[in-house]
Amino acid sequence: MPVTCVFGAQWGDEGKGKVVDFLAARAAYVVRYQGGANAGHTIRRGEEKFALRMTPSGVLQNATGVIANGVAVDVGVLLSEIEFLESKGIPASRRIVVSDRAHLVLPFHPLLDQALDASRDETWKIGTTGRGVSTTIGDKHLYEGFRVADLLSPTVRRTRLPYLLERGRQRLEAMGAPSFDTAAALAEAEVWATRLAPMVRDTAWLLQEAAEAGRTILLEGAQAALLDVDFGTYPFCTTSNTGVAGACAGTGLPPRALDRVLAVAKAYCTRVGRGPFPTEDEGAVGATLRERGREFGTVTGRPRRCGWFDAVAARHVCRFNGVDAVAITKIDVLVGIDPLRVCVAYEADGRKVESFPADIDLLQRCRPVYEELPGFTEPLGAARRPSDLPARAREYVTFLERRIGARVELLSVGPERTETVALKAT
Ligand code: IMP
Repeated sequence: MPVTCVFGAQWGDEGKGKVVDFLAARAAYVVRYQGGANAGHTIRRGEEKFALRMTPSGVLQNATGVIANGVAVDVGVLLSEIEFLESKGIPASRRIVVSDRAHLVLPFHPLLDQALDASRDETWKIGTTGRGVSTTIGDKHLYEGFRVADLLSPTVRRTRLPYLLERGRQRLEAMGAPSFDTAAALAEAEVWATRLAPMVRDTAWLLQEAAEAGRTILLEGAQAALLDVDFGTYPFCTTSNTGVAGACAGTGLPPRALDRVLAVAKAYCTRVGRGPFPTEDEGAVGATLRERGREFGTVTGRPRRCGWFDAVAARHVCRFNGVDAVAITKIDVLVGIDPLRVCVAYEADGRKVESFPADIDLLQRCRPVYEELPGFTEPLGAARRPSDLPARAREYVTFLERRIGARVELLSVGPERTETVALKAT
């Protein structure tokens, strides 16, 4: 399909990287459309692994990596990633284009992001990654942002940037937070302008033309749908629309240009950090999933919260994203767990709750209603075709399809690219 949007359908760490990697091999453009340096992702070249934050996947595979207008661009991080990739022989600066409409993370944004979360009451701390994405995007909506086009315009750069930096400094001072060196930031902006200029394009135009020409475009979501600022677990979420709405607003591609929407979900659920998680299991099952699924943060090593698959949340996500198909990852982690449970509804205050609640307190009180399915014991790693799968694993997947109302087309049975089963023609 020429234009495909791939995004995480839970709270992140769904194994989206593997699915994106699989699809990026065929893409002419791989596009980041939201988030920023808060999104750690790993891309591979043979045995080598690269942990990146700003660079779109696909630059290792000859695709053009597009950082579109919806992304909060941390130029410092981007330039150091480009340098690192070039030191490995990958011509990253020739393969990356950056939108002139994207907003820049200014030096005070991460400091403010961290100071704000530190100042929040214990109940309402978000556990932000502190990369300045929320403050950058917040400022965008307050008309206080600074875009790539502004950086490249000598007039705007030399008038608006000192003004915004001073306002940022005042905000930090008012919060009693650590500050930054304004003169150094201004000098650095001159370097950024020179280094970024060759990569800057009207990426909306570029992608619209590419879509019209039938080129293959992969829109790569960061974070995940239950962290969506509108339909996620607000305020325990991120600052963007993480799915298809974000893909359109964040690239300039109209909704009709999207041919296919693919959601990636784990065969169970995990969440890092704070916020409601109805199917969390703090007992033996959660511990088994964590151990088997190696559910520890890639950067911090923090244990992830683990629990059963939540079909109520998944159905909610598939609906507001108009999902065409789902990729289920890490089903091999469930081998030997019997019975398996899937949450099919919530219950709170003695009543059934069928839709995913907006009320965060209600969501915290929701208890999952489970259906049990027989587990499977056969190892799955060698499965490559649907017929290689044990009948009970197929039943589990069919059950998920029915409950979430979307087709499962890909099943990941292990970490390697080859450990994938295509269930339906894609
Ligand atoms: P922020 O996006 O850095 O402001 O963080 C807001 C919330 O989203 C925090 O709970 C983060 O842990 C979470 N978050 C942000 N980026 C990611 C991600 O890439 N994967 C998983 N969680 C994330």
